Amino acid sequence: MTTALYPGSFDPITLGHLDVIGRAAGLFDRLVVGVLVNPRKAPLLSVEERMTVIGEAFAEMPLDVQQRLEAASFDGLTVDFARRIGAGFIVRGLRAVSDFESELQMAHTNRKLAREVDTVFLMTALEHAYLSSTLVREIAAFGGDVSRMVPPAAARRLAAPVKE
Ligand code: PNS
Repeated sequence: MTTALYPGSFDPITLGHLDVIGRAAGLFDRLVVGVLVNPRKAPLLSVEERMTVIGEAFAEMPLDVQQRLEAASFDGLTVDFARRIGAGFIVRGLRAVSDFESELQMAHTNRKLAREVDTVFLMTALEHAYLSSTLVREIAAFGGDVSRMVPPAAARRLAAPVKE
């Protein structure tokens, strides 16, 4: 059985991430979406909220895809988490050339740290290539409509009044 890890901040998960998840689920027997708990970043959504949104987004996917998906939060190094869950692959999406340099650096570094874990890149679907969680957070902060950028579960939470 091949297991892959799709790590990220997912603050919030976007339709671009979901496109990568759906396609990666067709390549591996088990795909674990790993939500990084990063104490150095102040997130818009808490880890619990991000996990709930991801769970609700999974529920909207075709059953055969859902059966291969899991979501889990983690802290520390991505490769350590990959080892803990028995993942031989890390999945990352590439939207544009601008993503390439930092992703290349991360893939090489992860491979230095864990020779047995390989990174697999998928090109994010063209219609989502402009999307980023950072932009979604900014639009939501100014009360803009993000419903065509994120799954409904995330859009509902982002439309709620900002917590003090
Ligand atoms: O969604 P993001 O923010 O682009 O995801 C970045 C992420 C979480 C994959 C990356 O920051 C990461 O792997 N962080 C965990 C710490 C780690 O392993 N650092 C070394 C990577 S070279």
